[in-house]
Amino acid sequence: MLSKLVFLLTLLISLVASEDTNFTYLGFQSANLSLDGIAEITSTGLLKLTNETKQQKGLAFFPNPITFKNSSNGPVSSFSTTFVFAIFPEYPTLSGHGIAFVMAPTRGLPGALPSQWFGLFNRSNNGNATNHVVAIELDTLRNSEFGDINDNHVGIDINGLKSEKSIAAGYYADNNGGFTNLTLISGRQMQVWVEYDGVEKKIEVTLAPINVGKPKTPLLSLSYDISPVIEDNMYVGFASSTGSILTTHYVLGWSFKVNGLAPELVLSQLPKLPRIGGKPKSKFLTIGLPVIIVSVVSVAISALVYVIRRKRKFEELLEDWELQYGPHRFKYKDLYIATKGFREKELLGTGGFGRVYRGILPTSKIEIAVKKVSHESRQGMKQFVAEIVSIGRLRHRNLVPLLGYCRRKGELFLVYDYMPNRSLDKYLFDQPKVTLSWSQRFRVIKGVASGLFYLHEEWEQVVIHRDVKASNVLLDGELNAKLGDFGLARLYDRGTAPQTTHMVGTLGYLAPEHSRSGKATPGTDVFAFGAFLLEVACGRRPIEPRGATDDVLLLDWVFSHWNRGEILEARDVSLGADYVAEEVELVLKLGLLCSHSEPAARPSMRQVVKFLEGDFPLPELSSLGLCARGLTFAHNKGGSFSDFAMSYPSSRDRFSQSSFAAESLLSGGR
Ligand SMILES: *[C@@H]1O[C@H](CO)[C@@H](O)[C@H](O)[C@H]1NC(C)=O
Ligand SMILES: *[C@@H]1O[C@H](CO)[C@@H](O)[C@H](O)[C@H]1NC(C)=O
Ligand SMILES: *[C@@H]1O[C@H](CO)[C@@H](O)[C@H](O)[C@H]1NC(C)=O
Ligand SMILES: *[C@@H]1O[C@H](CO)[C@@H](O)[C@H](O)[C@H]1NC(C)=O
Ligand SMILES: *[C@@H]1O[C@H](CO)[C@@H](O)[C@H](O)[C@H]1NC(C)=O
Ligand SMILES: *[C@@H]1O[C@H](CO)[C@@H](O)[C@H](O)[C@H]1NC(C)=O
Ligand SMILES: *[C@@H]1O[C@H](CO)[C@@H](O)[C@H](O)[C@H]1NC(C)=O
Repeated sequence: MLSKLVFLLTLLISLVASEDTNFTYLGFQSANLSLDGIAEITSTGLLKLTNETKQQKGLAFFPNPITFKNSSNGPVSSFSTTFVFAIFPEYPTLSGHGIAFVMAPTRGLPGALPSQWFGLFNRSNNGNATNHVVAIELDTLRNSEFGDINDNHVGIDINGLKSEKSIAAGYYADNNGGFTNLTLISGRQMQVWVEYDGVEKKIEVTLAPINVGKPKTPLLSLSYDISPVIEDNMYVGFASSTGSILTTHYVLGWSFKVNGLAPELVLSQLPKLPRIGGKPKSKFLTIGLPVIIVSVVSVAISALVYVIRRKRKFEELLEDWELQYGPHRFKYKDLYIATKGFREKELLGTGGFGRVYRGILPTSKIEIAVKKVSHESRQGMKQFVAEIVSIGRLRHRNLVPLLGYCRRKGELFLVYDYMPNRSLDKYLFDQPKVTLSWSQRFRVIKGVASGLFYLHEEWEQVVIHRDVKASNVLLDGELNAKLGDFGLARLYDRGTAPQTTHMVGTLGYLAPEHSRSGKATPGTDVFAFGAFLLEVACGRRPIEPRGATDDVLLLDWVFSHWNRGEILEARDVSLGADYVAEEVELVLKLGLLCSHSEPAARPSMRQVVKFLEGDFPLPELSSLGLCARGLTFAHNKGGSFSDFAMSYPSSRDRFSQSSFAAESLLSGGR
């Protein structure tokens, strides 16, 4: 019995030791890959991971497990892999999510989601060390929730989509070390090499166009011992996912080897990609018809191609139900021309919901700001547009006028009046070039209060802003405050799609009951307005990491000044002596009052306006039960950080150091 066991063990060990896996695929026709999602092998032998406009994933794995360790639980052996891929998006600048080379404990990743989750993870397991997944991502969309650097990068992911290290796609030339950018979604064939050195414990990733040999300098190099991540036996393969843009992700060839260099791919033997886009090749021309006819035909063809391309370029989504909104609907072409093709130079800023570009409308020459919102889910779009249009009818001197909208596949454009002085936060934080005087600040505060009051009570229906903060207050030419971005949060709020992870509202401005229930009310706007008041009076952000001893929460800081009877000392020092003490005191105390943890104890915007105008005196704070519980008035009672992080998964990314900040936000016991 025992000898039998020993024999079996020896057999097993000798098998493991002698069989270092290696394989090479030049096309996948005869490969027995394990496919999942929408991945398929074409008749020509291409591995087509995706070709869909829907949010779908495509995965393909080598069918057998690969032994990565010489001894169980030992260090991971060296390995190396290389593959050739090509990505064809429908539009030249927009695409699905990219391709990842993946190593996983199972032949497939059950429960993983498409879209930004890449078919690799989902919201609940992203970043968890129990995943045992290593991936090299060729990422073609920027997801700020994962800290993506741009929409065209290569990253090394360990157990989650927040890359350990990432870099813009490109390669270093061998001769002079110069860096050449590569566009992953260009449709060009590119080759990737991934190498892990089991002794040095280092991962290297190299990328190059197919006609360039392997560059000597890797694009990405990371010292990381993956031994705890990699299990003894793992599967290797590819994952890809699409969003709302038709994108085809192909792999043409692939080789892999443990303990050695992956066999070279004979490029000439790779299957051919189908012709997509490009001018049709015509034998007709080579046969030798008279030159004149040839040129006439080619002019006609290029004119046709031009017209078709142009049509595609400016293609937009317009459904029947939208016809009633005619006057509020902008043509994509006009917005494209206005913003010079959404040029980087016209970028005004990047907000929580998208990028904002400056533009000049072609015929009217009106200056506009265009907010480009990527929105993959079409759910709720109809109702959202109805709301946007009704919001477009809101007119108030302290609201940024919304002129209209436009829709394309996966994108929504909101067109606003252009505000030449940009947003208020630029005048408050980080050593601003121009500091606003107290009288200017007080006017801004009163303006925002009045705009919010209008939204809450003066219009035909209650509109909740949901994201009041200094960076959403814009200043016109005369430094009048205009509240922007209202209602946008709703688009995400309502989204029931599991992929929707955008946080609604911003940490530090979120009322405790809002983070608990996720429900926005006029009271949660008042809470955010309280944080805004403190920001403007103190010139500090609501949450700011500032060393171990100092307070992180502005609210705590102001509160402790108030508690010591010296609330005025909390004011922005850059105001110098130019301030009206009574007004500063009023604003700070009102800020505390609006930040009360009990919604019922907060004033309404109607009352706020009256306090600011001096029509009512502000009640004594101490009579409102603020002092007894001290700091807790900002904190919820039963919640914990994990509750919070669950309901707002992306909050960690929105603030640097936010986990530190959020923990202190909710600890309550300091
Ligand atoms: C790959 O493995 C096969 C056995 O499966 C072996 O015959 C061959 O020599 C190996 N090639 C390389 C390059 O290691
Ligand atoms: C992808 O799908 C579209 C529409 O479904 C089709 O027109 C196109 O030919 C497909 N492309 C490839 C390469 O299969
Ligand atoms: C193909 O792989 C499957 C496992 O995915 C295996 O069951 C089957 O036997 C394999 N077929 C061939 C011909 O290797
Ligand atoms: C595993 O064994 C191979 C020889 O079979 C050796 O080259 C390699 O360095 C070993 N790997 C580790 C991590 O010890
Ligand atoms: C996430 O993925 C894990 C493992 O792949 C799975 O067990 C879990 O059910 C998934 N969670 C959701 C919410 O889909
Ligand atoms: C990681 O996943 C394991 C098992 O799926 C679970 O028990 C654990 O709570 C997760 N950890 C975190 C931090 O989510
Ligand atoms: C490469 O792309 C980066 C942005 O990703 C840009 O800053 C840089 O100028 C580009 N370099 C070249 C040579 O085009």
